[in-house]
Amino acid sequence: MESTAIQEKIPCLDLRVQHQKIKQEVFEAFERVYESTAFSGGLFVEDFEKDFSAFCQTQYAVGVNNGTSALHLAMLALGIGVGDEVIVPANTFIATAWGVTYTGATPVFVDCTSDTWQIDASKIEQMITPRTKAIIGVHLYGQPFNVEALLTICQKYSLFLLEDAAQAQGAKYKGTLAGGFGEMACFSFYPGKNLGACGEAGGITTNNEAYYKHLLSLRNHGSTVRYYHDEVGFNMRMGGLEGASLKVKLKYLPDWNSRRREIAKRYQEELSNPHLQLQTQPAWAESVYHLFVITTKDRDGLMKYLNENNIYPGLHYPVPCHLQKAYEHLDYKVGDCPNAEYLASHCLSLPMYAELTDDKVSYVIDVLNGYNNA
Ligand SMILES: Cc1ncc(COP(=O)(O)O)c(C=O)c1O
Repeated sequence: MESTAIQEKIPCLDLRVQHQKIKQEVFEAFERVYESTAFSGGLFVEDFEKDFSAFCQTQYAVGVNNGTSALHLAMLALGIGVGDEVIVPANTFIATAWGVTYTGATPVFVDCTSDTWQIDASKIEQMITPRTKAIIGVHLYGQPFNVEALLTICQKYSLFLLEDAAQAQGAKYKGTLAGGFGEMACFSFYPGKNLGACGEAGGITTNNEAYYKHLLSLRNHGSTVRYYHDEVGFNMRMGGLEGASLKVKLKYLPDWNSRRREIAKRYQEELSNPHLQLQTQPAWAESVYHLFVITTKDRDGLMKYLNENNIYPGLHYPVPCHLQKAYEHLDYKVGDCPNAEYLASHCLSLPMYAELTDDKVSYVIDVLNGYNNA
């Protein structure tokens, strides 16, 4: 092993260094919110919405209280409800499916490919029924899904395409930013995301004015004029403190994403251990590496070995959506989505955050290259 031993623990994600660096700027922004008492929605949220739609190169952005609400409201804005079906990847965080379920519609899970680990477009058509209304593509781990393949299917069957871009702020498909490919795109600004609020937050981008106006009403009790409620709505506004912290952090996102790309490049070029498999990157995908997922035959053995060497990877995700207990009633079986099932029991997420130092990256690579499970 070439790099020197590292004494401190190296987690999958560490938010502390980043927040120390920007603490003063964020606190000044918090002070402005505090002084103006714009705690719920309001000026600071609107300000961030303008910046975020400009960043994504979409016409509109709507801030909400988290990414799960973003998915829920987007489903409602599409008119999806009881009796409808929506195609969802089996390999994603469960919240992609929650938005569908909350409306009374049914998620229909489709396997991922064995190499990109994104939804397998060739398996979608066989799952389409007269009830199917939409497909949710997920830019999972920060890597764009095959947008054109999904759009082609949507056009053929008159379905809506929705992007779950929760993990992909700044990712590009064929040079174009995530956020404007579908009817709408849903983002999470959970603290651990590439762009994370100091608190819970989410957002929706769109180029469609009708969706935009509807989302403004849905997030605010179904109201555009105070105390007049045209439809059943929700209290899903973004908080002012969250909006203000996001505006500060958005300025740094391009640099943070570049640093993640540098780290990913090192993992891709320097990991030489044949026991490890990396995610395939199609030429059109410019990932922002929210996560750097690998697979290995004996995942638990590798995890133990890494922990013994002070490295603490994550698991994204140990159970695929179709086999979650919450969806037991949908009667999926082991073997229905074999690639997603394989991934769930063999995946592991390497340390990945912008402040991960070069020597720590070297150390992680050396430890991984020294792993031998033969
Ligand atoms: C792919 C995906 N979709 C949706 C969500 C939900 O976002 P939130 O945690 O902000 O509700 C997340 C966040 O964890 C996610 O990773």
